[in-house]
Amino acid sequence: METNWSMDTQVIHSNNHRIQEPLPISQSIVPAVAYAFPSIESAAAVVAGKEEGVYYGRYGNPTLQVLESKIATLEKGEAALGVASGMAAISTALLAFLKKGDHALVTKDVYGGTYSFLSSLAPRFGIDVDFVDCTNEEVIISSIKPTTKVIYIETPSNPSLTVLNISFIAEICNRHKLTLIVDNTLMSPYLQNPLVLGADVVVHSATKYINGHGDVLAGFIVGKKSDIKFMRKTIVGDLGQNLNAWDSSLILRGLKTMALRIQRHCQSAQKIAEFLQAHPAIADVFYPGLPTHPQHELAKSQMKAMGGIVTFEVQGGMEAGKKFVNSLKLAMISFSLGDPETLVQHPATMTHASIPKAEREKFGITDGLIRLSVGLEDADDIINDLKQAILTAQTVTKS
Ligand SMILES: Cc1ncc(COP(=O)(O)O)c(C=O)c1O
Repeated sequence: METNWSMDTQVIHSNNHRIQEPLPISQSIVPAVAYAFPSIESAAAVVAGKEEGVYYGRYGNPTLQVLESKIATLEKGEAALGVASGMAAISTALLAFLKKGDHALVTKDVYGGTYSFLSSLAPRFGIDVDFVDCTNEEVIISSIKPTTKVIYIETPSNPSLTVLNISFIAEICNRHKLTLIVDNTLMSPYLQNPLVLGADVVVHSATKYINGHGDVLAGFIVGKKSDIKFMRKTIVGDLGQNLNAWDSSLILRGLKTMALRIQRHCQSAQKIAEFLQAHPAIADVFYPGLPTHPQHELAKSQMKAMGGIVTFEVQGGMEAGKKFVNSLKLAMISFSLGDPETLVQHPATMTHASIPKAEREKFGITDGLIRLSVGLEDADDIINDLKQAILTAQTVTKS
């Protein structure tokens, strides 16, 4: 350090500690926006992509780089790109493969935000979209147009838990030279790897199971190196949807317990789905782990376990369902999922309220449908909470 620097200079340059030994076990948080290069030539080589490196925070940072390489490994893809939310991942992936005049085929029961992006914003840029039943081969094939470039699916879907055959749809995409994008949020890379089943791109809301603690909004896109490079430079870089180092660090921590958390979510969800199915006050239960689920066999063949979301309908429709939800004491009424806390929501009035009723019902989102994101509490405590809420709702309905 120069001793003759003034305090104005010293506050910036004095005692900076860049080399840490012994090596810290947890990954370092590097919040730096900019990086200092040894020469103009090396700076130019990094910005031109001729040399590996980071150069400006909007295009990545070292903490995020560690996380991206972990996510790419877990999803068995060439590269990953971390962004500021699940919707940033979804919109970036779609914009990377669609331009003015192109058409996308989208599974009819997608997450409300994806529906909203594709039905309101994408058409303003000349992108044409059809929402179709992707459980039906004939419907998929007959819906492909000469301008179709992408098939976009979510499996299992949120909140109906429809399971789609990824390998089968990937084959259709191969034959028609289309890009298959799969939202793998409800499974996490621990339970399902769409790229191994033939998909081209995977998107995640890491806000859910990947981080798993309900304290970060984030998303990931996983795919071929060249595609990820294009998205980083041309879409995320220009639109400014990067994931910052602080949030990356929280996700690096959350990720360490992902396997353990998801095993527990799945075990409890199975027990709760079986309890609900056997209860006379419950009209219907949608959980891929139940033999009555229409795609139970497919789910067993492509998913390692059945996930932590249970969707069901209470006898008595909308009013009975609302009374039931309002009577829960442990489960919290909330818009998110995949957290340690059990969260419950009413899709028709909450997450999917942006979808018109007639459209929503075509997607299987009826007025009485309830989505439960099973948390990490003791499964018996969650079941006792459901029991008392059913009883209270029935008492209120009868009086
Ligand atoms: C299946 C699915 N995909 C994407 C998203 C969007 O994620 P985010 O809220 O992180 O933008 C959600 C949010 O609930 C979701 O459930």
